Amino acid sequence: MKIAIIGAGYVGLVTALCFSDMGHNVVCVDTDIKKVKSLKEGKTPIYEKRLDELLEKHLNKNFKVTSDLSDAMAEEPEAIFIAVGTPSDSEGRLDLSYVKKAAIDIAKYLDFYSVIVMKSTVLPGSTESLVPIIEKESKRKLGSGFGLAMNPEFLKEGTAVEDFMKPDRIVIGYYDEKSRKVLEEIYTSITAPKIFTDIKTAEMIKYASNVFLAARVSLINEIGNICKQLGIDVYEVAEAVGLDKRIGPYFLRAGVGFGGSCFPKDIMALINKSKEIGENADIMEAIVKVNDRQPLKILQLALQKFPNLHKKRITVLGLAFKADTDDIRESRAVPLIEALLSMGADVTVYDPLAMQNFKKQYNYKIKYAEDLHDALKSADICFIMTDWAEFKKAKDYENVYIFDGRNLFRRLHNYEGICW
Ligand SMILES: NC(=O)c1ccc[n+]([C@@H]2O[C@H](COP(=O)([O-])OP(=O)(O)OC[C@H]3O[C@@H](n4cnc5c(N)ncnc54)[C@H](O)[C@@H]3O)[C@@H](O)[C@H]2O)c1
Repeated sequence: MKIAIIGAGYVGLVTALCFSDMGHNVVCVDTDIKKVKSLKEGKTPIYEKRLDELLEKHLNKNFKVTSDLSDAMAEEPEAIFIAVGTPSDSEGRLDLSYVKKAAIDIAKYLDFYSVIVMKSTVLPGSTESLVPIIEKESKRKLGSGFGLAMNPEFLKEGTAVEDFMKPDRIVIGYYDEKSRKVLEEIYTSITAPKIFTDIKTAEMIKYASNVFLAARVSLINEIGNICKQLGIDVYEVAEAVGLDKRIGPYFLRAGVGFGGSCFPKDIMALINKSKEIGENADIMEAIVKVNDRQPLKILQLALQKFPNLHKKRITVLGLAFKADTDDIRESRAVPLIEALLSMGADVTVYDPLAMQNFKKQYNYKIKYAEDLHDALKSADICFIMTDWAEFKKAKDYENVYIFDGRNLFRRLHNYEGICW
């Protein structure tokens, strides 16, 4: 099938290259000229396992990339996926401006029937709120002139290609049978359960999934903090708790909390929506509160052992919000680094993939180490904020006292874990 994807970020690019690998003809559009140039040269602008390989395999064959939407629309794609960012505004509310802009741009060139598919995470009602804008701009009617669907994405950065190709389920909210058929055909080769529903329900399924996962993280962190005070290993507790089939083993790793581009902003968006419609969001507010506290808990631990951090040589390992990605959105290292700098510490950081992104975004007076050895050879204290496997070598540096926020180690003599 002929498919256009608007947005070549973590979701858009993975979706585009996976669709290409499934045999579809895909054009990916991004307004970021640097990103498009890099992709045209065969270089992926983000790090994600297997993405390079897929780009090499499909570039200029059944995968094309452009910054000019009219090029993509000239191919008359049967489906146009919107996969642009949906960040929070300054109040934590969902910012739909990129999505609206993409919809207007698409409508300008919509002189043929196509199904417009929302892939971005948007609050219930958002996808349908675009209909008047699209109808006005394209002078076509929903149903006869264009179709509409909402197909939320559940991939995890770090394992995005595998998650996309072998998902637990595919959720498709659709406006009419014609739209449903197009989506069904696109995903024919994937055998996962397919949930067909209305558009608003599909939008809510994505938020509900993220809130449940984030709730597990904050709950196990709260239990972990109590365990720490009582001398109990929360990882032993979590292992036994997770064997209960009603609970399950996932997302029970206590530590410095969740970051990333999704959980924090999606929970905030749903909290704000709840308030707007006069509903309480007490549990969701508590999830955020526990999560905001968690990266500073590890600093409290350090202060118990080293009450004065002024001029101490401190290394923060891990800037990415989790291992196997270069994404630093809502990185747990940020509140820690800011607190350490305010205490006059001498801060060095290291991350195998995320340092360039971090340098671009933050202007802190910190040293960027060349490698793990450079980061640790003359440090007094080290904080582990991301679960990169490489950081396990930190235990070989006897000169450093380790505060481990990701449970990479168990009970070394020069070490303390946040929750155990
Ligand atoms: N990152 C994840 O793990 C993940 C997982 C599931 C769902 N999501 C959701 O998917 C959506 C996209 O997230 P992301 O992480 O891929 O974002 P991203 O910021 O990595 O990528 C968005 C891309 O869209 C481009 N863009 C913006 N406006 C455009 C326009 N009008 N035309 C063409 N390109 C445009 C930007 O230049 C950028 O490259 C969000 O709603 C997010 O919540 C993300």
